[in-house]
Amino acid sequence: MESLQRFIITILPGLSKDGQQEFFTRIDIQPGDTVSIVGSTGSGKSAFINDIEVLAQGDTITRRTIRINGAEPPEEMVRNPAKKPIVMITQNNRCIADLKVVDFLSLHMKARGIANESLVLDTIELANEFTGEKIQPHYRMTALSGGQTRSLFIADAIRIGDAPILLLDEVENAGIAKERVISRIKEHRRAVILVTHDPLLALSTDRRIVMKNGAVREVIYPSGSEQNLVRRLSDIDEFVSEIREKVRDGEQFSDAPVIATGTKVAA
Ligand SMILES: Nc1ncnc2c1ncn2[C@@H]1O[C@H](COP(=O)(O)OP(=O)(O)OP(=O)(O)O)[C@@H](O)[C@H]1O
Ligand SMILES: [Mg+2]
Repeated sequence: MESLQRFIITILPGLSKDGQQEFFTRIDIQPGDTVSIVGSTGSGKSAFINDIEVLAQGDTITRRTIRINGAEPPEEMVRNPAKKPIVMITQNNRCIADLKVVDFLSLHMKARGIANESLVLDTIELANEFTGEKIQPHYRMTALSGGQTRSLFIADAIRIGDAPILLLDEVENAGIAKERVISRIKEHRRAVILVTHDPLLALSTDRRIVMKNGAVREVIYPSGSEQNLVRRLSDIDEFVSEIREKVRDGEQFSDAPVIATGTKVAA
């Protein structure tokens, strides 16, 4: 993965919705970095990651510019999806090809010239770490649920696609195991830039970009002082997940055990 080590993506400032210059000078992102994009509805989060996806050259509504390893992205990178160092996964991602999961992944490997028998099953196994209901190799791509599809695309991007950068736009609503996604992405030395409304997810990244009025308002590097809060949120999140699973399993509840927020509760 020598090529990944040298990969740096740089975002240069553009203009806010009312044409004001953004305040930052540059934002550099490299493999292993985790960055969250936060901000209220309509503040420009999707526009920000979209700029990265299209390798904007001052030609998008935000006027931002993207550099790859300090230079303008080569023409081939812009035109050829196989050469693009970026994979974007949104809530709308669906596979339109009516293929079995195993054939879809094999086809992708073939397109990338990868010959590795076990990689298809490894990729499905990774996807299944993110989903509740397991994906089987013989399932048809078009029959996967939204969450299963996104989980498979994320696993595919990590294991088969060589993209050093993953862009995730609000995938947490799909009910996939988001923290596991982040840790696997880190383990595989990919960078992830994710748009999120989930405070735990946002506080779990190395950096937070705060959007307002179409512009980057602030870049926050957590100093470690938020660790207690993260642990507390994580406990609450675990509790919510536990209940979510029980609700999904059709369980019913009495009002009996009163829940103290922030503590682990055996329901
Ligand atoms: N810098 C900008 N200049 C002009 N228009 C912008 C700018 N940034 C975003 N917009 C426009 O503002 C609208 C809202 O932006 P966007 O979809 O990125 O918001 P969002 O933060 O992703 O919102 P949501 O949380 O609802 O998904 C879009 O039409 C987008 O094109
Ligand atoms: Mg959006």
